[in-house]
Amino acid sequence: MRKIAVLTSGGDAPGMNAAIRAVVRRGIYKGIDVFGIHNGYEGLLEGHITPMTLGSVGDIIHRGGTILRTSRSERFKTEEGQKTAIKQLNNYGIDGLVVVGGDGSFNGARKLGEKGVPVVGIPGTIDNDIAGTDYSIGFNTAVSTAIDAIDKIRDTAFSHERTSVVEVMGRGAGDIALWAGLCSGAESIIIPEASYRIEDIFERITCGRNRGKMHSIIVVAEGVCRAEEISVALRERFKLDTRVIVLGYLQRGGTPTAYDRMIGSQMGAKAVDLLIDGHGGNMVGFNSGKIVYKSFEQAEKQVHEIDMSLYQLAQTLSI
Ligand code: ADP
Ligand code: F6P
Repeated sequence: MRKIAVLTSGGDAPGMNAAIRAVVRRGIYKGIDVFGIHNGYEGLLEGHITPMTLGSVGDIIHRGGTILRTSRSERFKTEEGQKTAIKQLNNYGIDGLVVVGGDGSFNGARKLGEKGVPVVGIPGTIDNDIAGTDYSIGFNTAVSTAIDAIDKIRDTAFSHERTSVVEVMGRGAGDIALWAGLCSGAESIIIPEASYRIEDIFERITCGRNRGKMHSIIVVAEGVCRAEEISVALRERFKLDTRVIVLGYLQRGGTPTAYDRMIGSQMGAKAVDLLIDGHGGNMVGFNSGKIVYKSFEQAEKQVHEIDMSLYQLAQTLSI
């Protein structure tokens, strides 16, 4: 292994820069040339590849987003696209690739692997929905950002005696909603992994009102429905004074937390070590508090499960 490259793909996530920095610096430390591929798989197809130096990853560990930028590439999904990508890697003499991204990006990485490219995946997505790992880089920061926003929203909900419905990201997963809801003391949390009835939510709000709590926060995961739908139902059926807040991309950007910098650094270094040791075809993961690795195939057979005991806990604490 003489030359490796790193790219970020899919949605950006805070902590990706820590991972890029670790890949570059560990690689150089081990005597390897490291290249940066700009704009994800789309940039790989276009040969947008430049050498990385110790200095090119200086002053980035504290920055959100990804200095390499990212993309969603339809072209890369085709056989033709993947062949072009491999040609580009060969043009630069690159014999190992690190892909930082979500499960879509891992599908792409696995396909390159099947065509003979040694690839290692690093889980990076705020959604925390990747099979084979308990944790994905960016989740902790996104949850912290959501909590910070909900704390502020609560002040106004309290002052005006309103019900605020907060929509958070997560694609099909409820992890962000569950963590942000539990840690901000939301009265109701609506996630794709659990069914809900609007009557139950109203009942919770009524219980609170009966003991003098005139405001409430409902956190809904985008994978269930729009916050507006919950708001309309509560307003029209139960005559509640509601407001809707969609947190959106606020959750994707921002300064990574210590946790995301730490996991990003550890996973980045591990990815390089795996390539050097001939363990392409694997993803780095985090299981039971340890950095681990497993094949893309093995990970694909697993399902990322939300911790439903946290959901039960939230239910019992928000009575
Ligand atoms: P994420 O990696 O965050 O889940 P996407 O699902 O958008 O984000 O995937 C990122 C990119 O990975 C896609 O734009 C595409 O280029 C590539 N990709 C996704 N799925 C596949 C697939 N089945 N085969 C090949 N490439 C894929
Ligand atoms: O995967 C991260 C994520 O932010 C999801 O939570 C969200 O559904 C999606 O990306 C939004 O994607 P885009 O950046 O393409 O709008």
